[in-house]
Amino acid sequence: MTPARLTIAAPLLFLAACGGSDQDTSETAPASPATATSPQASTSNAPAAFATCRSCHSVEPGKNGVGPSLFGIVGTKAGDVPGYNFSPALKASGVTWDRQTLDTWLQGPMKMVPGTKMVIGVPNPEKRKEVIDYLESLK
Ligand code: HEC
Repeated sequence: MTPARLTIAAPLLFLAACGGSDQDTSETAPASPATATSPQASTSNAPAAFATCRSCHSVEPGKNGVGPSLFGIVGTKAGDVPGYNFSPALKASGVTWDRQTLDTWLQGPMKMVPGTKMVIGVPNPEKRKEVIDYLESLK
């Protein structure tokens, strides 16, 4: 009986050792930061840098999540997406989204609009540009 038990126990230990590293991003990605370029960016031509945004934003019209839908966001006023409960700070900001304001926003939302509910930015200028190009294509 003992040898059989050993052969069962070994794979279980192996699984237990590996199980902790699961992240809800993507299982196909290599063991590297979640922003790594992924060959199949699932639904669209979104740049890799947009993967971060997806955890809070959809790009489908009318589909709000933790953040508002980003469909057609370029050219609109901040805090204007229907059906989304914006922070008073963003609503009152008076910002209109264009390349310039989006670039400032993505450098640090809380710096641009203190009190906003969006707390992460994109420090890398290249990635910001990719993300903004993509946002402009959502029409
Ligand atoms: C952790 C969640 C989260 C992530 C990640 C996130 N956002 Fe946001 N975003 C929000 C929330 C929440 C708001 C609403 C902020 C408010 O009401 O103050 C928002 C608002 C925005 C707005 C303003 C929308 C409007 O109608 O005024 C833009 C543009 C935006 N996000 C772009 C992005 C982009 C691009 C990324 C990826 C680089 C991103 N966000 C990542 C949560 C997130």
